[in-house]
Amino acid sequence: MESGINYSGGEFSKIDDTLLTGGGCKFGDWIKIEENVQIGVNVSLGDYVKIPEGSRIGSNCIIGSYVRLGKGCKIGNNVKIKCHAVISPDCVVGDDSFIGPNAILLHMTPQGEHLPTTVGSKSFIGTGVYINPGASVGDNIVIGTGGVVTHKLTQPGIYIGVPARLRRPL
Ligand SMILES: CC(C)(COP(=O)(O)OP(=O)(O)OC[C@H]1O[C@@H](n2cnc3c(N)ncnc32)[C@H](O)[C@@H]1OP(=O)(O)O)[C@@H](O)C(=O)NCCC(=O)NCCS
Repeated sequence: MESGINYSGGEFSKIDDTLLTGGGCKFGDWIKIEENVQIGVNVSLGDYVKIPEGSRIGSNCIIGSYVRLGKGCKIGNNVKIKCHAVISPDCVVGDDSFIGPNAILLHMTPQGEHLPTTVGSKSFIGTGVYINPGASVGDNIVIGTGGVVTHKLTQPGIYIGVPARLRRPL
């Protein structure tokens, strides 16, 4: 069998033995599901989303159209990822977080090192934000539109700019 399957339209609770899902999911058109994937309950996938090998998506998530997910990425529960965002291989998004349109969680340095990024819980990544390889965003953090995260941010608060700096604590 070809690796993964292409699926178009409708609702499903289980596609095949490699896809474990609790049901209640809604899929757009031209979804591709690879092997060894887990998806929780009540997950909505927009058009042209690929769920790559080894990735995990929690329950009650909304993944917008054209979102790119990398192999082995892990998405928590109650996560929204808006259209055209990119979650690179092995990157992690914690529960109750929001990833804005066109935001990119990066994973590879110019030297070819694989340093996947992490977003914690209850965080908000604004439109067009880049999170550099090796950087991370902790819990309860807002990154304003267009920010570039270059460090490990841990203090809850609103960060803006390039590089993203704390504007005010929450
Ligand atoms: C950062 C943000 C959360 C607002 O934070 P805030 O503290 O309430 O900011 P304010 O609107 O009061 O602006 C405060 C200052 O920061 C500046 N600022 C606001 N957002 C900024 C951003 N993204 N980048 C750089 N500067 C920004 C403002 O120009 C203002 O500067 P000034 O004091 O020199 O006039 C908001 O601007 C933002 O980026 N929201 C994300 C929206 C988004 O991506 N939504 C996705 C779903 S569509």
